[in-house]
Amino acid sequence: SHGFHNPISPLSLPADRGCHTSFPLAPAILALMFSAPQVDDYHGHKIPDPYSWLEDPDSEKTQAFVNAQNQLTLPFLERCEVRDLFKERMTELYDYPKYSCPFKRGSRYFHFYNTGLQNQSVMYVQESLDAEPTVFLDPNTFSDDGTVALRGYAFSEDGEYLAYGTSASGSDWVEIRFLRVEGAIPLEDRLERVKFSCMSWTHDGKGLFYNSYPDQEGKSDGTETSTNLHQKLYFHVLGTPQSQDCLCAEFPEHPKWMSGAEVSDDGRYVLLSIREGCDPVNRLWYCDLQTTPQGITGLLPWVKLIDNFDAEYEYVTNEDTVFTFKTNLDAPRYRLINIDFASPDQSNWKELIPQHDKDVIVFATCTYSSYLFVCFLHDVKNVLKMYRLSSGEELRTFHLDVGSIVGFTGRKRDSEIFYYFTSFLSPAIIYHCDLTKDPLQPHVFREVTVKGFNPADYQTTQIFYPSKDGTQIPMFIVHKKGIKMDGSHPAFLYGYGGFNISITPSYSVSRLIFVRHLGGVLAVANIRGGGEYGETWHKAGMLANKQNCFTDFQCAAEYLIKEGYTSSSKLTINGGSNGGLLVAACVNQRPELFGCAVAQVGVMDMLKFHKFTIGHAWTTDFGCSEIKDQFDWLIKYSPLHNIRVPEGDKVQYPSVLLLTGDHDDRVVPLHSLKYIATLQYIVGRCLKQRNPLFIHVDTKSGHGAGKPTSKVIQEVADTYAFIARCLNISWVK
Ligand SMILES: *[C@@H]1O[C@H](CO)[C@@H](O)[C@H](O)[C@H]1NC(C)=O
Ligand SMILES: *[C@@H]1O[C@H](CO)[C@@H](O)[C@H](O)[C@H]1NC(C)=O
Ligand SMILES: *[C@@H]1O[C@H](CO)[C@@H](O)[C@H](O)[C@H]1NC(C)=O
Repeated sequence: SHGFHNPISPLSLPADRGCHTSFPLAPAILALMFSAPQVDDYHGHKIPDPYSWLEDPDSEKTQAFVNAQNQLTLPFLERCEVRDLFKERMTELYDYPKYSCPFKRGSRYFHFYNTGLQNQSVMYVQESLDAEPTVFLDPNTFSDDGTVALRGYAFSEDGEYLAYGTSASGSDWVEIRFLRVEGAIPLEDRLERVKFSCMSWTHDGKGLFYNSYPDQEGKSDGTETSTNLHQKLYFHVLGTPQSQDCLCAEFPEHPKWMSGAEVSDDGRYVLLSIREGCDPVNRLWYCDLQTTPQGITGLLPWVKLIDNFDAEYEYVTNEDTVFTFKTNLDAPRYRLINIDFASPDQSNWKELIPQHDKDVIVFATCTYSSYLFVCFLHDVKNVLKMYRLSSGEELRTFHLDVGSIVGFTGRKRDSEIFYYFTSFLSPAIIYHCDLTKDPLQPHVFREVTVKGFNPADYQTTQIFYPSKDGTQIPMFIVHKKGIKMDGSHPAFLYGYGGFNISITPSYSVSRLIFVRHLGGVLAVANIRGGGEYGETWHKAGMLANKQNCFTDFQCAAEYLIKEGYTSSSKLTINGGSNGGLLVAACVNQRPELFGCAVAQVGVMDMLKFHKFTIGHAWTTDFGCSEIKDQFDWLIKYSPLHNIRVPEGDKVQYPSVLLLTGDHDDRVVPLHSLKYIATLQYIVGRCLKQRNPLFIHVDTKSGHGAGKPTSKVIQEVADTYAFIARCLNISWVK
């Protein structure tokens, strides 16, 4: 399946695929607040960092702080009437079968399936599409509590071996293990210290390329904060110990560079894509395996086809030496080009599918030897088209309702495709199209409906609202049909705004329960910083333009209020990761505009984020405080550094809930810990602040990927219970 999302960006997936007077501070927290503050000098600016001690996750003080915060928050959540009702209804409505697209490897078909409430989805195998599927790999058996998840997998070319990653407690650390597919026999091979890794087999089946990091001091279980530098590319030969793996690429001069190897469709070339951060740009080196007749024995003789970070080049396929790439070179909305490795000079490059006027290419894949399937984003809705590989001629468009393609399978050697459609009110339709048939006719292979919820009672609309500078921003709004626009409804506004990530329509049971049982309006704003309209949209919301994200989001709130969907006191904003930053920055800038704010796994300390784990990769979107001009951007909105008691007698901060996990090594929990400590200290002690300011730190939990269903259900029950209690919303039967 396609990894549409940048694996190292601070991305949080929607959960389901999604000192105040009244609440006094626990004495333990007050006692911890007075320590000698650290002060840092940034280009002559003295910036105090009084809670820097919270950066040590293992100190007794930090652990006492976390415990004390949880002991404040949990009783509050437990007293929310909606919590049990929500959990019960969520458990009921989430219990529907979840399938992935089938995919063929060797002669067999595989797919993922979750009966409904299983903590992890199970991989099944079938001899043919009509044959009875049997369990092939069940991640629920990896641990007793479902907290060890599958993280990436790759079958060998003949489909006889599987390499798969496992990660514990939501950490980004992965261990790669191997199976012989016939009989699902586990092999001894184990690869460790793997993170942000590719997995690509050579077609001779000897072994696979993967990435790992050098040994580090101290623990590496996902609770540490140490920086991830000097990633290397290795080749593992099946049946040999990891210590004998062959180092194929390293960049000692460039500690931030990360690489991914991909073996070409014909097995002849290894393509190496090198990135130094989250920007959609990469170097593209390759190695012709015919030039290494003795096999892979050391650093590969890389040919540096593209040796700069000016644009992105993503391998689509090749016919001999003619390679097709998806690129944003001179095309912010992407195009396909052909580069002949035999005459690689840029003047010989040919355009295969030009950039469209408005639509953005999301992915392109070659299927059944001679076709290209290209998925576009058209005003935040997906469009799937088919082209001829040889000429770039457009052959047809596959009809889709308003929504997203979140899965696509079918490779060059396959003669069929499957694609997975989802939307706000439709959990899943998997289409199958046999490409050997004429005329081509996609069929519904599976359609999932959810019992007890009638989509016909609800409506989705897409509107466009103006931001402060006049830019039209798309927003989806979902609510019960026929509601009165009298400002009385609770609303839940979600946004992300960064890292070229497009927030396309998705099905979320918890959000629909909010709409159905809390009488809510769901709004998803496609603010700048995302990839909704290509690189231009992304650039308009990053670096010096980052404030546009926050302004766009605040304008979304103002639109919802002006149009009568909701009012400030009934409005919740939500986001995770970079979206947690969004929520916290907006709360600091416009405390009076929102009634409630839930920020998950947020990036809150914009002056220091680059020092921890993979944070350095985000300087492409945020900039870095070590550079004077960039410090000037960051200090203006950094959530941690912009907390003030709001002006006005009655103006207070909205009710705030921060959520994080002890094993989040993408956005380390110290961001949320320092933010809440500062918020409680500055705002919480103020008498007029009556809304609660809380954090919950979950254990054995990370940034979001691989979260077991039981934790997902608990988290959404806590979140909406908090919202319901703080905004005085009662449950509608
Ligand atoms: C999921 O894991 C939890 C423990 O984390 C366990 O209580 C629950 O029974 C598991 N669910 C299923 C369906 O196995
Ligand atoms: C950026 O977004 C565009 C449009 O969705 C996509 O084609 C491209 O692959 C993305 N790049 C990265 C690095 O995520
Ligand atoms: C909460 O809502 C109930 C009815 O929905 C209402 O009677 C009550 O006055 C509200 N309380 C506050 C503090 O607004």
